[in-house]
Amino acid sequence: MKVGIIGAGMVGSSVGFALAITGYASEVVIIDRNEVLAIAQAEDIAHAVPFMSATRVRAGGYADLAGAGIVILAAGASQKPGETRLELLGRNTEVFRQIVGQVLAVVSSPIFLVASNPVDAMTFITQRLSGLPPQRVIGSGTVLDTARFRSLIARHLNISPQSIHADVIGEHGDSEVLVWESARASSVDLASFAEQIGSPLTEAVRADIDDNVRNAAYKIIEGKGATYYGIGAGIARIVRAIARDEGAVLTVSLVTDHVAGFEQVALSLPRVIGADGVVADMLPDLSQNEHEALKHSADVLKRITDALQL
Ligand code: LAC
Repeated sequence: MKVGIIGAGMVGSSVGFALAITGYASEVVIIDRNEVLAIAQAEDIAHAVPFMSATRVRAGGYADLAGAGIVILAAGASQKPGETRLELLGRNTEVFRQIVGQVLAVVSSPIFLVASNPVDAMTFITQRLSGLPPQRVIGSGTVLDTARFRSLIARHLNISPQSIHADVIGEHGDSEVLVWESARASSVDLASFAEQIGSPLTEAVRADIDDNVRNAAYKIIEGKGATYYGIGAGIARIVRAIARDEGAVLTVSLVTDHVAGFEQVALSLPRVIGADGVVADMLPDLSQNEHEALKHSADVLKRITDALQL
């Protein structure tokens, strides 16, 4: 599958690198208003390809998007240390107004994958600006938070993250919801598994995991100025689900009316992803506290997007 990446910064180039070395895309076109940067990123990534795959990687302009099945939106400003994702919103909305129109002039019905933060609001904005069916405008949402959640639980239990089924839902941000209620290790209730393996999930352990998931980005940004490898791999994983029509269940952001009580707001829930984008939405089993936290997260996001003049 041909994939376009708009934005050759650290996130866009990390996605391009992940796609190139995994072979999840057959062709990657990298576009940036800074053409010199786009060419340099594409060349650098192309030099990695012979070691790993046969992906064609090049820089280009919007006209080079012809035939692309997926267009990844990774353009815009990135978070400054201590800045919340929602504070980024105004700067990135104007950037997207320009980009979406130029993409649709070449590719009439792509699947947009939104990476730019605040990703839930940017997903809502992209869907409104593009007019595409919501299931074709997918935000990376909490796909990275879910990976962080699973990896920290796995580290505590000393088992593989691949064996953990636990999701983060809601806003990709401060109000996100770590779903402990329905978390499993294989088919075993997580709390029971932890007790049986001798590493109980005490309140202190849960609080430590929550802090390290919810605040991961802030800590990384303090140390190196930005995050990009995790989100790059997360976006590449979503591309694979679409390109291979996997029917993979991933916690991605989408504007949907299919989940009662959470209509017309872009937030993350477990969703089934295939060739046509998101084909089904799920509401996981939640404790009363988790359901209230998800409603709060939806309210935070709805206040933001209701205020937009789109
Ligand atoms: C993070 C950025 C992608 O959570 O928001 O690392």
